[in-house]
Amino acid sequence: MTRKILVTSALPYANGAIHLGHLVEYIQTDIWVRFQKMRGHECWYVCADDTHGTPIMLRAEKEGIAPEELIARVHQEHTRDFAGFHVAFDNYYSTHSAETRFYSEDIYKKLQAAGLVEVRSIEQFYDPVKQMFLPDRFIKGECPKCGAKDQYGDSCEACGAAYAPTELKNPYSAVSGATPELRSSDHYFFKLSDPRCQAFLRAWTQEGGHVPTEAANKLQEWLGHPGENKLTDWDISRDAPYFGFEIPGAPGKYFYVWLDAPIGYMGSFKNLCAKTGMNFDDWWGKDSKAELYHFIGKDILYFHALFWPAELEHAGYRTPTGVLPHGFLTVDGAKMSKSRGTFITAESYLKEGLNTEWLRYYFAAKLNGTMEDIDLNLSDFVARVNSDLVGKYINIASRCAGFLAKFFDGKLVFDDAKPLTDAAAASGLAVAGDYEARNFSQALREIMALADRINGEIAVAEPWKLAKDEAKRTELHDICSRALHGFYVLSILLRPVLPALTSRVARELFGMERDFTWADLGALPGKINAYQHLMQRVEAKQIDALVAANIESLAPAPAPTAHSPQRHAEHQQQAETKTQEKKEWENFISIDDFAKVDLRIARIANAEHVEGAAKLLKLTLDLGAETRTVFAGIKSAYDPATLVGRLTVMVANLAPRKMKFGMSEGMVLAASDPEGKTAGLFLLSPDSGATPGMQVK
Ligand code: 2FM
Ligand code: ZN
Repeated sequence: MTRKILVTSALPYANGAIHLGHLVEYIQTDIWVRFQKMRGHECWYVCADDTHGTPIMLRAEKEGIAPEELIARVHQEHTRDFAGFHVAFDNYYSTHSAETRFYSEDIYKKLQAAGLVEVRSIEQFYDPVKQMFLPDRFIKGECPKCGAKDQYGDSCEACGAAYAPTELKNPYSAVSGATPELRSSDHYFFKLSDPRCQAFLRAWTQEGGHVPTEAANKLQEWLGHPGENKLTDWDISRDAPYFGFEIPGAPGKYFYVWLDAPIGYMGSFKNLCAKTGMNFDDWWGKDSKAELYHFIGKDILYFHALFWPAELEHAGYRTPTGVLPHGFLTVDGAKMSKSRGTFITAESYLKEGLNTEWLRYYFAAKLNGTMEDIDLNLSDFVARVNSDLVGKYINIASRCAGFLAKFFDGKLVFDDAKPLTDAAAASGLAVAGDYEARNFSQALREIMALADRINGEIAVAEPWKLAKDEAKRTELHDICSRALHGFYVLSILLRPVLPALTSRVARELFGMERDFTWADLGALPGKINAYQHLMQRVEAKQIDALVAANIESLAPAPAPTAHSPQRHAEHQQQAETKTQEKKEWENFISIDDFAKVDLRIARIANAEHVEGAAKLLKLTLDLGAETRTVFAGIKSAYDPATLVGRLTVMVANLAPRKMKFGMSEGMVLAASDPEGKTAGLFLLSPDSGATPGMQVK
């Protein structure tokens, strides 16, 4: 039966770059979608930029451009990054669109008609200089709990406390620096606490398998025990100035992010309908038979599994079939860190020229369909890609394809085909179950076990020896045909993960005019074309360069994105890392700072004692084009006679300093133990070959 499946990934904010943390989600969703398409289902994958909110408005203002210009630029950047990682959306749209506006207004009006919208006056901080209400992240002050300075309005990065911005001591606006004033204003609320929402959500979250068990338990906590009403009403409006959609009938009030971002899923799909002629209501109407899945990070579970289905249900639309949360990405066991260069942007990965299918493979090998965080261990990444992809998978073709071309005109023969197609079908069944369940790590384990079996057969048959013996042609033909059939099966099974590589395999090697489908597992390839090199090994130095590139691209923290307090509670952990990051970062200098120091190789042309100086030696340093006099505090460690002729490193652009004994025109570099556990001073020397005047960097 052909299923109709609509799939989304969370919409990324339009004010930041895509990084590897984001890609965990997009790659994961893309693999699942590609798998469904290969199986012959009607599957559509839509996404969009989440373009509205105060941070985007302020950032555009800071850049001196219109928000529309900013979001258009970021849209291009995001599109480029996704394409680079083979994330193939059927539509990548924008929430700043007529379609999203239409459904935002429509849902809002229906909720209002159902009595689920309420207006209440609330008090909030207002920036009298900037003349705007301030989101929590734009108010700073001293933590009410620990007194730490410069803390955000919702939580303290020093002690982890969560609080309301009004509790901050000495608050100030992060936008203008002004002291904010409390002002009241009318806000619109979605009544999530309404008994209808409660009743609906209790059933929806606990029945029908809409969320994985782990997430269902979390939702149960948020909902409270039956009889308890823990859900609070949701503020869905923001006051002007704001970049977004004005609420109909409420001048100066705008829809807040959760009343237009998820609706962007509908907007993007509606836009796709216009391009393809599909009927929107077949997919989003109350009686839709189509499946709808949202892949999301675990930090936005609250919105997607409570707020969003309640909104859809009471506005007369279908609700999701599944909300599928995943964990965060860590790199080398720690949160991604800008100072360590592990906050790796998609752009830098592409610029460094790394193969993006390596990362797809590695992420897939770690993903198991749960909310566990996944770790990108950089040395394991190198080892894994090289051993699995190059050493096991590609190895099969690179070892055997040549013999088929050389001796058999590329033709494959199978004596007994049935065991081969049976084995392919069995692998196909197991692996399909794993893909369907989003247990990609298990799928890849099965696939690599198959690769191991094939490599084992090759090792036993030793085709490279058979090839030397004319009498063994039949055996050679047999093992190479079976090996290439194995490679064909592996390529089909790996297609969701490695779409570009397996497309080449299908077209270049097996001479097909299309990409693989799952049904191809039942066929036997008859012929191959000449083997072309398929994949390079990863070099550790490429990873080093990638990390280095991300240290260098360190920029001041980006403008905060729109967040709600609830979302923040979930982000606590990330906030803690940020503090750590900030502390480390404070100890770092930029590459530009470092470049200011002119380090040079110097030859010590002369060294002598200085009369009356207890610690100093007078050094004459030859820098190639010039000589300098430097007074160095190394007398305790060196006899001047032993220094003459030696090469060392000096700071050549240190401002000359007048000393009691004369002018010192620089500084030589020596190591010492700051804690004094090891006594002594150790002058630096370059490796042999360096000559006076060379720059050290
Ligand atoms: O949390 C976020 O990244 C927001 N941009 C919302 C994404 S999900 C959605 F659009 F509903
Ligand atoms: Zn604190």
